[in-house]
Amino acid sequence: MIKVLFVCLGNICRSPMAEFVFKHMVAEKGLSDRFFIDSAGTEYTSEDCSPIHYGTKSILDENNIPFEERHSRRVTPRDYAYFDYILAMEDKNIAEIAELVGPDTDYKIHRLLDFSKHPRNIRDPWYTGNFDESYWDIYEGCQTFLEYLKL
Ligand code: 4NP
Repeated sequence: MIKVLFVCLGNICRSPMAEFVFKHMVAEKGLSDRFFIDSAGTEYTSEDCSPIHYGTKSILDENNIPFEERHSRRVTPRDYAYFDYILAMEDKNIAEIAELVGPDTDYKIHRLLDFSKHPRNIRDPWYTGNFDESYWDIYEGCQTFLEYLKL
């Protein structure tokens, strides 16, 4: 079982988007049984159990990606021990994850788009309002991460 945790700041926009895009991608390849996939955040709304942002739900609906209602949560040291891959949306998340879980001694923390040919941050639609841009960046990241796993 490959355990993958997507992490952003608030766990209401980008990381739940990545969670459901990746769940759908692995389901389409018949690989769901090989994965445990979840998401968490480092700050803000991840502390107060907020629902998924409506912008994320709309873009998932537009692209026919199924999702379930969920509530935000903060990343914990237990997550670091449990998950094999902790995939952050941007540089800033990586520093904040390390503050919450300690140093990345097992090299589990990566930036999602570091698996792509064009490594970069995924901008936060909470601030940009551009959920479409985040969706396609996340799609590229999930696709290239799955290719990297060579299953
Ligand atoms: P996310 O976006 O990290 O992609 O979930 C944000 C969500 C909420 C806030 C900031 C970013 N906030 O300030 O509440």
